[in-house]
Amino acid sequence: MTDTDIARVTVLGAGNMGHGITEVAAIAGYDVTMRDVKEEFVADGYGNIEWSLEKLAEKGRLDEPAEDVLDRIDTGVELESAVADADLVIEAVPERMDLKKDVFADLDEFAPEGAILASNTSSLSVTEMAGATSRPEDVVGMHFFNPPVKMDLVEVIYGDRTSDDTAEAAYEFAQSLGKTPIYVRKDVRGFVVNTVLGPFGDEPAWMVSNDEATIREVDAAMVHQRGYPMGPFELMDLTGIDVGYHVRNESGREIPPIMAEKVENDELGRKTGRGYYEYEDGEGVNYG
Ligand code: 3HC
Repeated sequence: MTDTDIARVTVLGAGNMGHGITEVAAIAGYDVTMRDVKEEFVADGYGNIEWSLEKLAEKGRLDEPAEDVLDRIDTGVELESAVADADLVIEAVPERMDLKKDVFADLDEFAPEGAILASNTSSLSVTEMAGATSRPEDVVGMHFFNPPVKMDLVEVIYGDRTSDDTAEAAYEFAQSLGKTPIYVRKDVRGFVVNTVLGPFGDEPAWMVSNDEATIREVDAAMVHQRGYPMGPFELMDLTGIDVGYHVRNESGREIPPIMAEKVENDELGRKTGRGYYEYEDGEGVNYG
């Protein structure tokens, strides 16, 4: 049992963020439905949760058998039934405003009255998404970080019409997951973290595109000089190069050629086995 008024959570999207948020909520004791548009996406996401739970169990970081956590997770491809009795819906679909608005219009139609409708958007306007519903006071941003099971922070973002009750419920829900939430009271593009992190991805990608440095040199410099856990290219591989690409596209920023090339070649990072680096069997990167 959990301490919030929320019992049933639905996560829309089984990708990197969607499966991670599902996992974290199920570990915290919530019943979670994870829904994606295709069975194969759902199966991949579920497989990733199984892998991650096994890792946590191996290290003694689960308080119960992984099967008990998995028992709290339902999956599906039907949106209507997935959200029918949700107290909280968190969408983690790709970072495109047209898609997000379609999802929120569907939620307006099918989610129960009073449900909290949250977006895990990393930089798009919560206000604009809320505008696709007739209940913008129930819409809030809940921005998790990748990988959700390891990253502590959650940004809770107010859209222009988000009610305090909704934002507070989202904040308390994040706390109940063992996370540290912060409020972002203005719906600024990129919120706090990605506003600051944007140049951390842009500048290196331009340097490499302009042959001013190599990928490994940039990453080694940031890790050894700044003490970051990973350099910007390894980080973009972790979050998905396509994610950053869409964010830049949506905000009208010029895309560094190396980033565009990776997306064109479907080399999106860890999830495709190759991005700025190549990955074998989940191995990490060594850049000295
Ligand atoms: N679940 C379970 N275990 C996992 C895991 C997961 N999701 N991901 C990695 N692990 C495992 C690894 O496989 C490894 O297992 P092993 O010891 O058996 O080999 C183990 O965890 C330890 O991994 P590492 O030793 O490589 O590293 P750490 O645990 O010290 O840290 C990290 C891993 C937390 C990912 C760290 O490198 C880090 O903090 N990186 C930066 C991540 C970050 O900044 N994320 C935010 C990105 S921005 C974002 O998400 C915004 C969005 O809007 C784009």
